[in-house]
Amino acid sequence: MTAIIETNRLRLRKMNMRDKENLLKIFSDPETMRYYPNVKDQEETIRWINWTINNYHTFRVGLWIVEDKHTGEFLGQCGVVPQKIDGMVQMEIGYLFIREKWGSGYATEAAKACRDYGFEKLKVDQLVSIIDPANHASVRVAEKIGMKLDKSIIKWGKDLSLYIIKAR
Ligand SMILES: CC(C)(COP(=O)(O)OP(=O)(O)OC[C@H]1O[C@@H](n2cnc3c(N)ncnc32)[C@H](O)[C@@H]1OP(=O)(O)O)[C@@H](O)C(=O)NCCC(=O)NCCS
Repeated sequence: MTAIIETNRLRLRKMNMRDKENLLKIFSDPETMRYYPNVKDQEETIRWINWTINNYHTFRVGLWIVEDKHTGEFLGQCGVVPQKIDGMVQMEIGYLFIREKWGSGYATEAAKACRDYGFEKLKVDQLVSIIDPANHASVRVAEKIGMKLDKSIIKWGKDLSLYIIKAR
């Protein structure tokens, strides 16, 4: 399938219903979903895919599937996701990878590419990440792509940290 973004090791492409089983590897793992309200079942995964496809149509972006560009192996999802913050839609860099692939630098590599895509292709003037401050791995990914802690916000009923990077 056509790549939206390619990096040294990764291909990011649009999500579709055929990705359901692979996405369930992420969504059914309680450790991976620790900072989300709950794990997701088949039905919720289908809703997630439909929400993502709708984002592609409405905002031209959304979460993309990340795969090994040489083998095609599924690794996770990363992309640019519209999120309402203080009543305004902002573009968030989001990332979730399957647990067995953590620690290989994939999230950082994919998120960096999404940051560049946001500034160069979408021409947004800033990108954000909404992160549970206890989610150290996620905070680290945000820092490694140049994001800085902006402020605390309440979203999804939780106190979360808003990380921001502005276009140069
Ligand atoms: C967050 C996540 C995407 C990171 O994926 P990853 O591919 O392992 O990330 P990377 O390999 O690029 O490494 C990220 C950095 O975090 C660090 N890190 C990883 N786990 C950590 C932990 N538990 N505590 C502190 N730092 C951690 C790594 O060491 C690395 O930093 P370094 O290069 O300075 O050593 C992955 O843990 C994940 O999918 N988590 C579940 C979903 C999630 O919570 N997503 C974020 C929602 S906001």
